[in-house]
Amino acid sequence: MKPEPQINRRREEFPTLATGIHLLSHSLGPVPRAARESMRAYYEAWEHHTSEDAWASSWWEMSMRVGDRIAQVLGGVPGSVQTQPNASIALASVASCFDFKESDRNKIVTSALDFPSMEYIWDAQSRLGANVEIVHSDDGITVRLEDILEAIDDSTCLVALSHVSFRSSCRVDAKAIVERAHKCGAMVLLDVYQSAGAVELQATDWEVDFLIGGTIKWLCGGPASGYLYVRPDLQKDLTPRLTGWVAHDEPFSFASAPMRYADSVRRFAQGTPSIPALYSVLPGLQIIEEVGVPTIQAESQRRTEWMIEFALEHGWKVNSPANVEDRGASVMIYVEDGPETVKRLAERKVFVDCRPGVGLRISPHFFNTDEEVREAMGILGELMKEKTPK
Ligand SMILES: Cc1ncc(COP(=O)(O)O)c(C=O)c1O
Repeated sequence: MKPEPQINRRREEFPTLATGIHLLSHSLGPVPRAARESMRAYYEAWEHHTSEDAWASSWWEMSMRVGDRIAQVLGGVPGSVQTQPNASIALASVASCFDFKESDRNKIVTSALDFPSMEYIWDAQSRLGANVEIVHSDDGITVRLEDILEAIDDSTCLVALSHVSFRSSCRVDAKAIVERAHKCGAMVLLDVYQSAGAVELQATDWEVDFLIGGTIKWLCGGPASGYLYVRPDLQKDLTPRLTGWVAHDEPFSFASAPMRYADSVRRFAQGTPSIPALYSVLPGLQIIEEVGVPTIQAESQRRTEWMIEFALEHGWKVNSPANVEDRGASVMIYVEDGPETVKRLAERKVFVDCRPGVGLRISPHFFNTDEEVREAMGILGELMKEKTPK
């Protein structure tokens, strides 16, 4: 492995790191120590606020403040992110902005490597007239950029893809996709759940229209707070049907319909924000901001490169792209019996998971040491040897 740089890994701020080697950031980040204090602050606020002052002051603004901090991680400006209950709702909110039956522009381009919610939600939109095209993957690991670009045409209203696939860690070229889509008059939504906090994102520079994701994984937040980024100059053109009183221009006027949407990204809210989830997000966000995504990405690239080399030297099948620009922060390694291997690794205090077809998902984050990564791969090597018939 290339030499370990001197960075503050903040390990003492994640108490559960003492219990084993945490390589699960694609699923559930470790709890920051400060989350206990943050949740206590929530409890105290709940205990002491009257309904009026909770809503009139701190709680009402909290969603906006958390949104602005997430916007920074995404490479967007303040006022571009509305927190959401989860990423699936964020996606459904965007889907509800389109009138597929009313327009010839009714095609949605997605990919075979997206998270299932993506497929389910678009499939449900086909009942409303959406024409859904799923760009295939020949190998179950990658989707060719040419195939994505080719699927985008003048009938496309939205290209909606994972920026980094939860299945294989395959990363798409955001800029090229946005460029092509905008040329055809289509918009682009990227699901950045598997990249935000581990891969540098440039929402503003990419000119991407929507980003969705959540905080529980690479952002070390609690379960769970989702978010929706909407390009600032696009916001006022959209009127999501998935809505509620918080999205109203004057929520506390409790006005009758028709809906008058807020003149800000809050128009993508629905009902009462999940306040405890917002408290649980803050400590992780703080640490990610302080360590810095560029540092985190450089560390991830150095480690995943070494892991892939190690795996290939041992003759294992790597189910993630080899090129660092084409992958996120996880490495997928094929094993015959995923659940059994996960269990045996856990017995040795190495925490990973698996997905059908791809095998193990292994994700070093900034808080892991090189020694841990080497040890985990060494233990996997021992288990693999035991399985290989002599
Ligand atoms: C890429 C991706 N998108 C979406 C989700 C699900 O998000 P939510 O449960 O917030 O809807 C996940 C969860 O693993 C994911 O990895």
